[in-house]
Amino acid sequence: MEEKIPLPKRDGNNMQKDDLEIISGIINENKFEDILEIGTYNGYSAIFLINNCKTIKNFVTVDYIPKDRKRTTLKGSGFSPEEIENFSNKLSELKKKYNIKKLEIRTEGSNNFFKDNKKTFDVIIIDGDHSYEQSKRDLENALKVIRKRGVIIMHDIRDSSYVQNLPPEENCTRTFKECKLKKELKKTSLGLGIIWPKSQN
Ligand SMILES: C[S@@+](CC[C@H](N)C(=O)[O-])C[C@H]1O[C@@H](n2cnc3c(N)ncnc32)[C@H](O)[C@@H]1O
Repeated sequence: MEEKIPLPKRDGNNMQKDDLEIISGIINENKFEDILEIGTYNGYSAIFLINNCKTIKNFVTVDYIPKDRKRTTLKGSGFSPEEIENFSNKLSELKKKYNIKKLEIRTEGSNNFFKDNKKTFDVIIIDGDHSYEQSKRDLENALKVIRKRGVIIMHDIRDSSYVQNLPPEENCTRTFKECKLKKELKKTSLGLGIIWPKSQN
């Protein structure tokens, strides 16, 4: 049996178990292989999905390093540069220690990542800057590189509560609401917005 990688310490900024179970279900059912995640944080969701989805061949996760913060984010994430750097270093150590070849850690903001990216993906998880402006930009960029059968998953799509201290009309809830593509809202504790951009039915 393959060894499970130890999960980073969980805190309130990580996805909840119900969110991650739904995402793993989608990946496993569709035998998805190539995943992109915007918003690594401490790597909890990335490691959980790698542990629970054997079909994953490549998992790219993107979060900025301190020097990139100024030019990449609009409203910021609320985490200090030191915290982000600490998470990034710890995840890199884990990758090295457990030889996680399928994990690619990109230390840059999503705008920079999409500027140079030439890859396409089966699943794109948007869990970075939750402002309306940046989540809309992430969704637009994701739509350019999602594969035909692929799915885009937006985290923290809650109707009435505040996300990242922003009211619903200024956060990613609005981005999801405005999206005209085939979509469904999973009412998990934090809310998952599932978008099937190229689906015919
Ligand atoms: C809610 S946390 C992600 C949690 C993680 N997905 C998990 O469940 O373990 C959001 C992360 O997005 C990052 N972030 C914010 N804006 C970003 C951007 N424009 N590009 C990449 N990452 C961004 C923040 O630095 C923060 O680490």
